[in-house]
Amino acid sequence: MAVRPRPRYEVRRMRLSDLEEVMAIEVVAFAHPWSTELFRRELDHDWSTILVLVEPLAAAEGAGERIVGFVIYWLVYDEVHILNVATHPKERRRGIARLLLEEVIARARAANASMLTLEARRSNEAALSLYRQAGFHAVGIRAKYYADENEDAVVMTRNL
Ligand SMILES: CC(C)(COP(=O)(O)OP(=O)(O)OC[C@H]1O[C@@H](n2cnc3c(N)ncnc32)[C@H](O)[C@@H]1OP(=O)(O)O)[C@@H](O)C(=O)NCCC(=O)NCCS
Repeated sequence: MAVRPRPRYEVRRMRLSDLEEVMAIEVVAFAHPWSTELFRRELDHDWSTILVLVEPLAAAEGAGERIVGFVIYWLVYDEVHILNVATHPKERRRGIARLLLEEVIARARAANASMLTLEARRSNEAALSLYRQAGFHAVGIRAKYYADENEDAVVMTRNL
């Protein structure tokens, strides 16, 4: 009988029980991380979705799964706004954020959204390059949008 290999990664919605693992990524990924409370509230909002990318673990590793990245987006009317995407530092440059964005785009299409929008820090080359690769285009600058560092935001959109 043919044995089908387990998929390397799976994407699913975040559950309350994922909070600790997601926060462990959040605090190392961002200089100004969201609080646990903010994530809890986000999970309760109808318009908000948090997707986690999980790596199924082999029996030898204790089975179960490990969260390696997440993305948060809002669906408001016909627009999807991406608030945050982050990958565990040890798992970067393996296509995880790209997979998460592909899933958001697929879900946006399924929800009949017409476009996606986001903001990224002007200095965040990794993020800007990730979004460009996913088909986003810079459409404007929000001056000093990130008040903490007085940093501009690049506004990007992608039509569906
Ligand atoms: C930005 C971030 C989410 C990218 O995650 P990732 O899983 O490493 O990204 P991927 O492996 O899917 O990369 C996809 C593409 O994005 C671009 N990219 C990703 N990291 C990059 C880096 N450090 N420098 C330049 N380009 C980068 C590349 O074009 C890459 O394609 P390639 O590897 O074929 O060249 C990750 O660096 C991160 O968590 N950063 C901290 C949190 C953050 O800044 N989030 C964005 C908020 S707007």
